[in-house]
Amino acid sequence: MRLLIAAIALTGMAFASSQALAADPLVIKFSHVVAENTPKGQMANRFKELVDERLAGKVKVEVYPNSQLFNDDTVVPAMLLGDVHLAAPALSKFGKYTSKLQVFDLPFLFKDLEAAERFQKGPAGEKLLTSMTDKGILGLGFLHNGLKQLSASKPLVEPADANGLKFRIMQSDVLASQFEALEATPLKKPFSEVFTLLQTKAIDGQENTWSNIYSKKFFEVQEYITESNHGLLDYLVVTSDSFWKGLPDDVRSEVGKALNDAIAHGNKIALEKAVNDRRRILDSGRTKLIELTDEQRLKWVEAMKPVWKQFEDEIGKDIIDAAVAANASS
Ligand code: LMR
Repeated sequence: MRLLIAAIALTGMAFASSQALAADPLVIKFSHVVAENTPKGQMANRFKELVDERLAGKVKVEVYPNSQLFNDDTVVPAMLLGDVHLAAPALSKFGKYTSKLQVFDLPFLFKDLEAAERFQKGPAGEKLLTSMTDKGILGLGFLHNGLKQLSASKPLVEPADANGLKFRIMQSDVLASQFEALEATPLKKPFSEVFTLLQTKAIDGQENTWSNIYSKKFFEVQEYITESNHGLLDYLVVTSDSFWKGLPDDVRSEVGKALNDAIAHGNKIALEKAVNDRRRILDSGRTKLIELTDEQRLKWVEAMKPVWKQFEDEIGKDIIDAAVAANASS
C-alpha cells in the first residue's frame, strides 16, 4: 500500500513538473507608447498573434501599448536589463546610442514613404540596423508610420509664423535645430505628455503623423494643422543583442519571421492611416487644414535646410547621400 501511495505521489510529481514545463513558455514583452489603432500598435498585435499561433506553448508575447510599461526614454535601458525584450521607438529617439540614425530626422529628406523604404532596404539602410550593437542594441527591422505634419494653436503658413512659438519635439538634437532654425523654442517631452501640454497651452504646437494626431486626439486641442510633410516618423524595432543571441536557433528564426510578417502588416496599415486618419481629422471639423502652395513649401524647405550642414559630419555624408539618392525611383 505504501509503495502504491509512493508510486502515485511520484507519478503526480512527474506530471506536475511536466505541466510546469509545458506551462512555462518563454515570454517576450513588447512595450510601446502609441495607441493600438496605429501602424505600430497593429504591428505589435499582429506579431503577438503570429507568435502565439506559430510557437504555441513555446513562446508567448505580451504587448504593452500606450506607455503602460515604459516610455521611449526608459524602454531601452530596461531592455538592456532584460525587463522588456522588444521595443520600437521612433528613429528620432536613438541619439544617445548612435549619431547615424539622426539622418532620418533631416527635414525634407524623403519625398515619400516609398523613398524611405528604398533607403532602409538598401545597403546603407541595412547597415544602420547594427549601428548600436556596441551598446548591446540590435535593430531587427524598420517600420513605417509616416510623414509629419505641423499642428499649432495659430496658422502656420510661412516659416516666420513659427517664430517665438513653443513646440514639443521628440528626443532629437536634429529636431531641436530644425525648430531653432525657425526661431521657435523646441521642448523635448515624452509622447504621453503631449496631449496635456497642448490642452493646457503650455506649448503652442507639435509635429507628428496623421495617425498619432488622430489616435491621441491632438487635433481636438490644436486649431490648425499645416500639411507640411516635412519629416519622417518611422521606427526601429530593437532588442537586446544578448537576448536575441541567447534564443534557441529555431525559436529565433521563427520569431524573426513573425516579426517580418508583422512589419509588412504594419507598413500596409501605415499607408492606409496616412489617408484615412487625415480624413477622419478633417471630417471632425475640430481643426483647420492649411495646405501649402509650392512657393510656401519652398520657404519651409529653405528655412530648415541649414540643419543638414550642421549635422553632416555627425551623421556621415555617405549616409545622407544614400538617403537622398533613394528619392530617385528605381
Ligand atoms: C512621438 O514621440 O511623437 C512618437 O515617437 C510616438 C510614436 O511612437 O509614434
